Amino acid sequence: MRRPIVAANWKMHKTQDEASRFVRELLPRVGAEVAADVVIAPPFPLLPAVARALADAPHVSLAAQNVHSEASGAFTGEVSCAMLADAGCRYVIVGHSERRALFGESDAFVARKVAAVQRAGMRPILCVGETLEQREAGQTEAVLTTQLAGSLADLDEARAAELVIAYEPVWAIGTGRTATSELAQTAHALLRAQLRARLGAVAEAIRLQYGGSVRPENAKTLLGEPDIDGALVGGASLDPESFAAIVHAAA
Ligand code: PGA
Repeated sequence: MRRPIVAANWKMHKTQDEASRFVRELLPRVGAEVAADVVIAPPFPLLPAVARALADAPHVSLAAQNVHSEASGAFTGEVSCAMLADAGCRYVIVGHSERRALFGESDAFVARKVAAVQRAGMRPILCVGETLEQREAGQTEAVLTTQLAGSLADLDEARAAELVIAYEPVWAIGTGRTATSELAQTAHALLRAQLRARLGAVAEAIRLQYGGSVRPENAKTLLGEPDIDGALVGGASLDPESFAAIVHAAA
């Protein structure tokens, strides 16, 4: 049995005060005995505030939304894995479609990030997903296969069980247009089969999150599918009540 994992991807939202208040309001709604891993990914400057607010809540993990693959150097505006681990991050989101589309991140770059996150002792949350154009052209399977293989090219297979993979169809992100649970399950089953072909039995331990307009109203149905092990939540993760409701739907 895979333990469900629900992550809040705040994207470019909130201030320190708002972040601290969110955690204060979330924790009583998500007790320590919750049967799911709960992750919060705030923007970089809010990591210390969220880490402080989570000091007595080891059952909720801190994550970053992005990282650079290099350990240090002349990379203005970038952040290293060591910095994130030092800030208390246990997970790092890599290869989000917004990074791929808006900031030109390639599979090869994402692959180096996955490896760097693993080397730093953190867990990657690797995002993959097709655009609407690709889906309508019948390319979903090819796109997912290429993204997954390319983004895992530098994987430390000994630590593959710690991987989390988020299937996020680009057309469902922030649009209110959620994938049907059947469509999402089909994509997740494909990803699981690819992982099995590459990694063998450990594929059964890797958690696959669905992301794209997950809300309290649709979470239960999506998470009821056999290969959907959690959710990566954007918009609905900004409010502690709706995020907690999604956590409980998963748990
Ligand atoms: P959304 O974002 O829940 O607002 O669609 C999900 C994501 O991009 O991770």
